[in-house]
Amino acid sequence: MNRKKLAGLWAVMNDFHGSYLLSVGALAISSLAKTATMFVLRYFAEVVSGTQPYFRADIALTFALISILFIVFAIVEGGLAFVSAKLAAYTAENIARRLRNFLFDHIQRLTFSYHNKIPTGDLIERVTSDLDAVRRFFSEQAIGVGRIILLFFINWFAILNINWKLGLASVVVIPPILLISMWFFKNVTAAYEKYQEQEAKLSTTLQENLNGVRVVKAFARQDYEKDKFEKENWEKFLKGKFLLLMHSLFWPLSDIVLGFQMLGGFLYAAVMVINGELSIGSYLAYVGLVVWLIWPIRNLGRLIVQTSTGLVSYARLVEIISVNREDLETGTIDRQRITGRIEFDNVSFQYSDGETEVLSDISFKVQPGQSIALIGSTGSGKTTLVNLLPRFHDYTGGSIKIDGVELNQIPRRFLRSQIGIVEQEPFLFSRTIKENITYGVGKQVTDEEIEQAARIAAIHDVITTFPDGYKTIVGEKGVTLSGGQKQRTTIARTILKNPRILILDDSTSSVDTETEASIRSALNALMKDRTTFIIAHRIQSVINADLILVLKDGKVVQHGKHDDLLKDVDGIYNRIYQIQTRIDDEYNAEIEATA
Ligand SMILES: Nc1ncnc2c1ncn2[C@@H]1O[C@H](COP(=O)(O)OP(=O)(O)OP(=O)(O)O)[C@@H](O)[C@H]1O
Ligand SMILES: [Mg+2]
Repeated sequence: MNRKKLAGLWAVMNDFHGSYLLSVGALAISSLAKTATMFVLRYFAEVVSGTQPYFRADIALTFALISILFIVFAIVEGGLAFVSAKLAAYTAENIARRLRNFLFDHIQRLTFSYHNKIPTGDLIERVTSDLDAVRRFFSEQAIGVGRIILLFFINWFAILNINWKLGLASVVVIPPILLISMWFFKNVTAAYEKYQEQEAKLSTTLQENLNGVRVVKAFARQDYEKDKFEKENWEKFLKGKFLLLMHSLFWPLSDIVLGFQMLGGFLYAAVMVINGELSIGSYLAYVGLVVWLIWPIRNLGRLIVQTSTGLVSYARLVEIISVNREDLETGTIDRQRITGRIEFDNVSFQYSDGETEVLSDISFKVQPGQSIALIGSTGSGKTTLVNLLPRFHDYTGGSIKIDGVELNQIPRRFLRSQIGIVEQEPFLFSRTIKENITYGVGKQVTDEEIEQAARIAAIHDVITTFPDGYKTIVGEKGVTLSGGQKQRTTIARTILKNPRILILDDSTSSVDTETEASIRSALNALMKDRTTFIIAHRIQSVINADLILVLKDGKVVQHGKHDDLLKDVDGIYNRIYQIQTRIDDEYNAEIEATA
């Protein structure tokens, strides 16, 4: 068995070692009471068969004493078994609770690249199913260890005490049982690993389908998705069947071996009685004790086999735990707020080693309060470029400086407090609108301030039409917002945050022209005195920018102000401009014609 993993499990129990050991101890004493009962039984049989005198030569007293001992031991046994189970549950549930909290916190602190790589369904699977296997390990298997060891030794010593030859003859079964258990341990480990992996696949499939249920419906792909799910589910069934087969093979096999042991023991003891080496009372006690000697041996095997699942699941948790968190604090910063002077110098970036560069040779300078527009076809690297600023990803070449300080020297937490982003695909939590607007603002805000921000973002009037106004829950349990409404809610959030650097990633892509105009004027007010990055597909949105960068395949192919860029008649910018004005003209002409 992997000693490091076991040591890790022990460390996880930190703070609960006490309750764990108490639980084990209670179970052990409870078992002790059971064994003691067997000795009372032996005494009883010996008294009845006349090999032992009555206690103080008084039949009534002897029988009363025996009865009382039986009752007391039964109460001790039952009572402590209950206490032990309670403590075991307390330990296991607490460990599980703590691990769950820890994992949740840990997972949300991992890097963007990690989350890009690992499917959400896989993470959910580990935090739920694997964690539960670890919890079961603590509440069921780990608690049994002490009981098994104690029961074994107590009963074995008791038998040795009755007759040492009988004692030795009763444990010859241990080596074969250990061998069988280890074989099963290895196979169950492998089978369970596969089973958990398959279950993760299944939950990823499920999670993805639920997220993408609209797409599935829109393309009428239900049957295809159903088949895909059924295939994964069938795989899980096969793996589960094999796992169960392993478990169910183990029991009969170990029981047959143990059955021979018992039978052999009984026969051997019977021969001893016939030869006069053993009293009837001792024989009776032996029969009672040997059952409780076989029990721990039988359960040792079971424990070994079942521990495999706990260890596999624990290892799957450790895989997450050992991933480094994103470092939010390291770095130096000598100011409360940044001014927003930004310099890119030959910056390049690739998402992972060996892949092609998504950005290369990017150089430009921005003064505080200026606005930079990024324009370029889809996939040209606009979002990637702005995501470097809050250090969602670290640039792989060149240098980025903010206020003259190298970006990768600035602590992420501070940096992110200075940057406001209106994401390309806005996300709202299933909480109230108010909570969504104040999310991560990092300071106390009044209701007036919230409404003010919502007004600027042209979302206030929409919110007031909801039954509960700002207290309306967004999402699954409440109102569903349209794409544009979501975007404006996140704009309100960003306004409230009052950042030094503002990033607007396609922020007006999902609103109509009229709303866009009102948001644009709001954004213009917001952009004042802040360094602003605007990503847009419409030239109209970037005409006033202090600097326009035209991106193509991760490179800046043109840069300058609107008027300068237009002068390059063959440039991409001019081409986009021509196409868009033509479309706009046709559109306006059409509107005039219908008016
Ligand atoms: N998380 C990621 N991991 C690996 N590659 C990525 C990742 N995100 C984007 N890319 C790749 O980087 C390139 C640039 O993507 P990016 O999202 O920056 O484009 P964009 O200019 O914002 O496009 P759009 O206008 O469609 O939003 C694309 O080729 C894309 O496939
Ligand atoms: Mg983008």
